[in-house]
Amino acid sequence: MFNNKHTYLVLLLLNVLACSPTSTYNIKSFFFDGVPQPQLKITNEEVTELGGPVADSTILFKVSDNIHPPYKERACAECHSKAYMGVPKMKQPQLCYQCHEDFRQQIGFLHGPVASGNCTQCHHPHQSKIEKLLIRNGQDLCLKCHIKDKIVNNRVHTHIESKNCMACHNPHGGSDINYLNKNSCFSCHDDFTAQNVHIHGPVASRECSMCHESHKSSAPKLLRDPGNQLCLNCHGMQDIFATAYHSPYETSACTECHDPHSSDRKYFLTLNTP
Ligand code: HEC
Ligand code: HEC
Ligand code: HEC
Ligand code: HEC
Ligand code: HEC
Ligand code: HEC
Ligand code: HEC
Ligand code: HEC
Ligand code: HEC
Repeated sequence: MFNNKHTYLVLLLLNVLACSPTSTYNIKSFFFDGVPQPQLKITNEEVTELGGPVADSTILFKVSDNIHPPYKERACAECHSKAYMGVPKMKQPQLCYQCHEDFRQQIGFLHGPVASGNCTQCHHPHQSKIEKLLIRNGQDLCLKCHIKDKIVNNRVHTHIESKNCMACHNPHGGSDINYLNKNSCFSCHDDFTAQNVHIHGPVASRECSMCHESHKSSAPKLLRDPGNQLCLNCHGMQDIFATAYHSPYETSACTECHDPHSSDRKYFLTLNTP
C-alpha cells in the first residue's frame, strides 16, 4: 500500500496536522489509518516497509518520546505474524515474557491485571508520550479500575489524590497484599528509625499499617484505634498492669511514657517517664 516512502510520509504529515495527539490512543489509531486490516494478507516486503516509516517518522515528528526498542528497530515479527500484522502472534503475558523476565517468579503477591497477564491494560506495546510506555498518567492509570472515593477519602493524605499512587505502591505486585513499597513512607516523612537505637517491632518491620490507615482513617494521626486500645491490640492488658511500674498509671496514655516508633532509650521511653 505504501510502497513509496514519500507518499507515506506526506500522508502521515497530513495526519499529524489533522489530529491533535492528545492521547496515546489517538496517536495509535491515526498512525495505522490506511494500514491494511489484520485479516488482509500482506507480503513480507510490505511489512518491513510499513515498519520503517512508522518508527522513523515518529522520531522525526516527535509525536512520541518513548518508543519500545523492538518497535523502533522494526522487529515487528517478534510480536506479530508477518502475515497478519496487527494481530499479536501469541497471548500475553507470554508475548512480553519472550524478552522480559517473568514477574511471576519474583513477586509474592501479583497485582490483578499482572497476574492475569493484561500488560497492555497499562503499557502501550509500541510507543507512548508517557515514560515506561504507560497509557495514562499518574493516578489516572490506577483510577481506571479502582474506585476513587474508596481510596482518597482521608483528610490528611490529600496528596494521594493529586500525586502518584506509585509513591507508596508497586504497580506489578509486592511482598504483601497491598504491594507496598516498604520504605515509601520515609520518602516524605523523616526516617525515625535512622537516629534511634531502640526500634519498636512493627516499625522495624515497616508494618506502618498495623497502626495507621493511610487511606481510610478519620482519626487523628490516621490511627486505626484511639488511645491505649491501639497498643492493647498486641500487648496484653493483664501483663502490662501486673507490673509495679505500670500499675499506678492505668488511666494514663501509653504514649505519655512510650514513643510509639523508636527512641534512644530502652522500651522507647520518652523524657516524660516518671
Ligand atoms: C512488543 C510487541 C510488539 C511489537 C514489537 C510490535 N507490536 Fe504491534 N501490537 C502489539 C500488540 C500487543 C497489539 C495489540 C494491541 C491491542 O490489543 O490493543 C499490537 C497492535 C498492532 C496493530 C493494530 C492496530 C493497533 O494499533 O491497535 C498494528 C497495525 C500493529 N500492531 C503494527 C505493528 C508494526 C508495524 C510493528 C513494527 C514497527 C509492530 N506492530 C510492533 C505488539 C507489538
Ligand atoms: C522482542 C523483545 C521484546 C518484547 C517481545 C517485549 N519487549 Fe518490552 N522491551 C524490550 C527491550 C529491549 C526494552 C528496553 C530494555 C529494558 O528496559 O529491558 C524493553 C522495555 C520495555 C519497557 C520499559 C520502557 C522504558 O521506557 O523504560 C516496558 C514497559 C516494556 N518493555 C513492556 C513490554 C510489554 C508490555 C511487552 C508485551 C506486550 C513487551 N515489553 C514485549 C524488548 C521487548
Ligand atoms: C497496573 C498497571 C500495570 C500493569 C498491568 C503492568 N505494568 Fe509494567 N509498569 C507499570 C508501571 C506504573 C511501571 C513504571 C514503574 C516505575 O516507574 O517505577 C511499569 C514498569 C514496567 C517495566 C519497566 C521496568 C523498569 O524497571 O524500568 C517493564 C519492563 C514492565 N513494566 C513490563 C510489564 C509487563 C511485561 C507486564 C505484564 C506481565 C506489565 N508490565 C504489567 C504498570 C503496570
Ligand atoms: C486493569 C485494571 C487495574 C488497573 C489499571 C489497576 N488495578 Fe489494582 N487491582 C486490579 C485488580 C483486578 C485487583 C485484584 C482485586 C482482587 O483480587 O480482589 C487489584 C488489586 C490492587 C491492590 C490490592 C488490594 C486489593 O484490593 O486486593 C492494590 C493495592 C492495587 N490494586 C493498587 C493499584 C495501583 C497502585 C494501580 C496503578 C499503578 C492499580 N492498582 C491499577 C485491577 C487494576
Ligand atoms: C501515602 C501512601 C499511599 C499512597 C500515595 C497510596 N496508597 Fe494505597 N495504600 C496505602 C497503604 C499503607 C495501604 C494499606 C491499607 C491501609 O493502611 O489503609 C493501601 C491500600 C490500598 C488498596 C487496598 C484496599 C484498601 O483500601 O485497603 C488499594 C486498592 C490502594 N491502596 C490503591 C491506591 C491507589 C489507586 C492510589 C492512588 C490514587 C493509592 N493507593 C495511593 C498507601 C498509599
Ligand atoms: C505501634 C503503632 C505504630 C506503628 C507501627 C507506627 N506508628 Fe506512626 N504513630 C503512632 C502513634 C500512636 C502516633 C501518634 C503519636 C502522638 O500523637 O504523639 C503516630 C504518629 C505518626 C506520625 C505523625 C508524627 C507527628 O509528629 O505528627 C507519622 C508521620 C507516623 N506516625 C508515621 C509512621 C510510619 C511511616 C510508620 C511505619 C514505618 C509508623 N508510623 C508506624 C503509632 C504507630
Ligand atoms: C508523597 C508524600 C507522602 C508519603 C509517601 C507519605 N506521606 Fe504521610 N503525610 C504526608 C503529608 C504531606 C502529611 C500532612 C501532614 C504533615 O504536614 O506532615 C502526612 C501526614 C501523615 C501522618 C500524620 C497525620 C496527622 O493527623 O497529623 C501520618 C500518621 C502519616 N502521614 C503516615 C504515613 C504513612 C504510614 C505512610 C506510608 C504508608 C505515609 N505517611 C506516606 C506526605 C506523605
Ligand atoms: C502490631 C502489634 C503491636 C502494636 C499495635 C504495639 N506493639 Fe509494642 N511491640 C510489638 C512487638 C512485636 C514488640 C517486640 C517484642 C519483642 O521484641 O519482644 C513490641 C515491643 C514493645 C515494647 C518493648 C518491649 C520489650 O520487652 O523490649 C514496648 C515498650 C512496646 N512495644 C510498647 C507499645 C506501645 C506503647 C504501643 C502503642 C502505642 C504498642 N507497643 C503497640 C507489637 C506491637
Ligand atoms: C507512666 C509511664 C508509663 C505508662 C503510662 C506506660 N508505661 Fe510501659 N513502661 C514504663 C516503664 C518505666 C517501663 C520500663 C520498666 C523497666 O525499666 O523495666 C515500661 C515498660 C513497658 C514494656 C516492656 C516491659 C513489660 O512490662 O512488658 C511494655 C511492653 C510496655 N511498657 C507497654 C506499655 C503499654 C501498652 C502502655 C499503655 C497501656 C504503657 N506501657 C504505659 C512506663 C510506662
